[in-house]
Amino acid sequence: MSTVLITGAARGLGLDFTRRYAAKGWKVLACARKPEALEAVKGDIHHHPLDVTDYKAVKTLAKRLSGEAIDVLICNAGISGERGDAAQTLGSLDPELWRKVFEVNALAPLMMAEAFADHVARSQQRKLIAITSILGSIAKNDGGRYIYRASKTALNMEWSCLARDLAGRGVICVALHPGWVQTDMGGPSATLTIEQSVPGMIKVIDGLRPADNGRYLQYDGTELPW
Ligand SMILES: NC(=O)c1ccc[n+]([C@@H]2O[C@H](COP(=O)([O-])OP(=O)(O)OC[C@H]3O[C@@H](n4cnc5c(N)ncnc54)[C@H](OP(=O)(O)O)[C@@H]3O)[C@@H](O)[C@H]2O)c1
Repeated sequence: MSTVLITGAARGLGLDFTRRYAAKGWKVLACARKPEALEAVKGDIHHHPLDVTDYKAVKTLAKRLSGEAIDVLICNAGISGERGDAAQTLGSLDPELWRKVFEVNALAPLMMAEAFADHVARSQQRKLIAITSILGSIAKNDGGRYIYRASKTALNMEWSCLARDLAGRGVICVALHPGWVQTDMGGPSATLTIEQSVPGMIKVIDGLRPADNGRYLQYDGTELPW
């Protein structure tokens, strides 16, 4: 039996990852602040209360799960900052928002990776996935959204470093863009439904091999420019 750990597992893309991995018969370590939505999901689900920015709690959880081999770890939890983007626009940047968004989107995934690297390295599949965004690409940038974009660029750099630093242990580190998806974050105008994005991402993750270590991909397997 394979095991997946998902952060932000009770809403949006994270909840659908939880449902689909559970339906595949995987053991799901579902980390979420508010577990209510997880109660309705059938399968081998283990809820662990976790705010990803509580690094003491992250370490405690890693210790509590020290007997687990985690085949796939998905750092999914993220925030976009305020809607309307006013606080992310040149001329009215909000430094507090910068700190908040970077904390959740860039620092927390790295602290998760550090805390759980051993659990992943001792598993069969050894896959460490960051749910990033195409908005983090420097090569494909049309400006604006300074804070969210920069937080995902930082996340991409971290995954590029992890790919190098954990390669010797056979860990496959991939930054994965879900597409623009109709969630609370993506909003109703997004071009993809959750049902189009998450199965695509799971197919990509299933197909990852050691040669894919260090890649930046989107939900349909397309390579993205850093
Ligand atoms: N939707 C898109 O179009 C899109 C595009 C590109 C990338 N992404 C990325 O995909 C990921 C999931 O986004 P989504 O669309 O599913 O957004 P969402 O519906 O807003 O869900 C965000 C998830 O992150 C969790 N979260 C936020 N801060 C947290 C914290 N401090 N500790 C633990 N959990 C926290 C939320 O948990 P609570 O319920 O407790 O708040 C929720 O489960 C994010 O990393 C996002 O940047 C999304």
